[in-house]
Amino acid sequence: MFKQELQKLEEQGLLRSLREVKPGVINLCSNNYLGLAEHPALKEAAMDAIKKYGTSVSASRLISGTTTLHKKLEEKLAEFKAAEAALVFNSGYTANVGIISALVGRGDIIFSDKLNHASIVDGCLLSGAELKRYPHCDTSVLENSLKGSDPYGKKLIVTDTVFSMDGDIAPLPEIVALAKKYDCMLMVDEAHATGVLGKNGKGALEHFNIKEKDIIQMGTLSKALGSFGGYVVGSKELIDYLINKSRAFIYTTALPAPVVAASIAALDVIKSEPGLRKQLWDNVRFFDKEARTQIIPILIGDSKRAVDISKQLLDEGIFIQAIRPPTVPKGQARLRVTITATHTRKDLEYALEKIKKYCVCPRLGKRAVRVASSGGLL
Ligand SMILES: Cc1ncc(COP(=O)(O)O)c(C=O)c1O
Repeated sequence: MFKQELQKLEEQGLLRSLREVKPGVINLCSNNYLGLAEHPALKEAAMDAIKKYGTSVSASRLISGTTTLHKKLEEKLAEFKAAEAALVFNSGYTANVGIISALVGRGDIIFSDKLNHASIVDGCLLSGAELKRYPHCDTSVLENSLKGSDPYGKKLIVTDTVFSMDGDIAPLPEIVALAKKYDCMLMVDEAHATGVLGKNGKGALEHFNIKEKDIIQMGTLSKALGSFGGYVVGSKELIDYLINKSRAFIYTTALPAPVVAASIAALDVIKSEPGLRKQLWDNVRFFDKEARTQIIPILIGDSKRAVDISKQLLDEGIFIQAIRPPTVPKGQARLRVTITATHTRKDLEYALEKIKKYCVCPRLGKRAVRVASSGGLL
């Protein structure tokens, strides 16, 4: 069975394998948006914590896995996101699965953007609630679905704020208004917005100047924050509820202290070094004047072709992973470029030159072509 399935994937150009990242290549597919994974303050904090607490806390949070550092990180996250309270999960994936499945269940209904991250989809499926997926960012279809949702119990709208494979931003002001109008819970995934969007890097809510307190915001510590783990912020009651009800939070060993210490340091760096965010945005604009975020998809379409181009680029010293179904819809294989603050102009110039050599990419050649559904490049 394994062999047959693998062969089928290979024939479709969908076989995945693990590619070792070799030093010396220009990495244009990492989520280390601010370069914090190599920041001296994070390394030092992690090393200090390892000396004090060791390599593992060896218990779940509710047993003996909550150190002073875990508490401190949660206080800092709540402050950063201007929320009452925060809770750290072991990853963004775990957070989505653990939050959604605790919030809703059988008899309830979830409205989820069609391009939401797989971890949101998995959380929805695990919850047992009815799942209605609305077309990407289409708030009129969302509203129509909301109109018919009276027979259900609890209602939840869930959306990425920055979409991970398309790099566009959800129409949050409209979605917030709909959540209010139809008395729905709203959960947003800030994985790619935290540290990047907003004047102070607080994310999409800051970007849109949205102040509503009852929005459930989750995110990851593993992308712009250069560390590891997931989190949720919201009301104190929400956090107490999740501590009691979220199985993905309860039944797993807590994050190791060095990882937690690195996240604390990352929040400090985000505050004290706004120049990193400016550098990131300067790089994004340099690479593509029309880019909306640091995630810039180059649509290829055919999966095999996307893989071939990715290989050719790697031979030229540029690492851009090909993203294929089921991560993206069928026929929409792409190279997902991510820009970071640590790319040099020389790196980006070289990458642009090579991308233009292998991809028909008018927008990067300054002639804009938009793809209606995803906003990606052609
Ligand atoms: C939108 C989104 N949500 C959640 C996650 C999961 O976060 P983590 O990598 O911390 O598990 C990711 C990426 O991994 C993501 O892109």
